Amino acid sequence: MARAAGLEGLTMILVTGATGKVGREAVGRLTETGRKVRALSRTPEEAGLPEGVDVVAGSPADPDSLAAAFTGVTTALIVLSGDVAGQARNIAVAATAAQVEHIVFLSSASVLHPLAHGIADEHRAAEREITASGAATTFLRPGPFHANTSWWVKSVRDSGSVRCWIGNNPGAPIDEYDLASAAVAALTQDGHRGKAYVLTGDEILTSEEQARILGQTLGRRLSFSVAPQEEVVEVFAGITGDRAAAVTNVAALHSPEVPWATPTTAVRDLTGRDPRPYRDWAAANAALFR
Ligand SMILES: NC(=O)c1ccc[n+]([C@@H]2O[C@H](COP(=O)([O-])OP(=O)(O)OC[C@H]3O[C@@H](n4cnc5c(N)ncnc54)[C@H](OP(=O)(O)O)[C@@H]3O)[C@@H](O)[C@H]2O)c1
Repeated sequence: MARAAGLEGLTMILVTGATGKVGREAVGRLTETGRKVRALSRTPEEAGLPEGVDVVAGSPADPDSLAAAFTGVTTALIVLSGDVAGQARNIAVAATAAQVEHIVFLSSASVLHPLAHGIADEHRAAEREITASGAATTFLRPGPFHANTSWWVKSVRDSGSVRCWIGNNPGAPIDEYDLASAAVAALTQDGHRGKAYVLTGDEILTSEEQARILGQTLGRRLSFSVAPQEEVVEVFAGITGDRAAAVTNVAALHSPEVPWATPTTAVRDLTGRDPRPYRDWAAANAALFR
């Protein structure tokens, strides 16, 4: 375990989901600015996080590991993956016991969705659990990530095609870099406790427009099609085993009334700069698709 030199006396920031898309970027940024960071990972030996980060073994799904991970922690960035509501309950128990002061939680804009569905319900439940911990909260509520288009890697490589699973309604997807930047601002600046932010990019794009931008970046024309909802339900139900949830989640993802359809100013307000456009994500990740 790498321990930071010269960070004695600084408050400890715990990051869960630390090896993932948002968490890894946030850990890097916090470390660069001299913060003392503890990162949770199920496989610390493979985490590959910067020198000085206190990488500890565990998971939000494992309450015993959380009790240890929260020791001495005043502030936490919570990113969950899998059983979001159940993991949030575990986080809340450990945070209460450790008397954590402030939790920044990567939630989801789906909590504001007018249709009832599992993704929204899970994140609403998670926000309630984290509120019940007694810590001050900041909820970051993003719409779809730019990185969701990495679902297209195999079909782009194999056949130059994109088959879209979430319909083709316009929305303002967000870059993981902007989410990490917003999280770092919420963790390190005053004024964000008790707040919730809907985070989007600046551009309103359909999936087809994202595929076109990706194709331009790769220098090849990509064919585009939208998978019928019934087909997507079969795939989701096959993965999760929960057909009822698959039906409501797919219906919600295909509905035009998504809360991320209108760009917000939250990234600019939190970070002081414009959100990254999808074109930049495509350029940075082009090698994945080649
Ligand atoms: N994708 C979207 O469009 C979207 C939109 C709105 C909100 N969100 C929120 O963002 C979250 C994902 O953030 P992200 O993309 O940064 O995370 P991620 O990259 O999917 O995963 C973060 C880390 O979580 C750990 N992990 C993965 N599966 C796990 C499991 N089943 N149990 C316990 N730990 C697990 C892994 O770390 P180790 O292997 O090191 O333990 C992984 O690196 C979603 O769960 C959702 O709450 C996503």
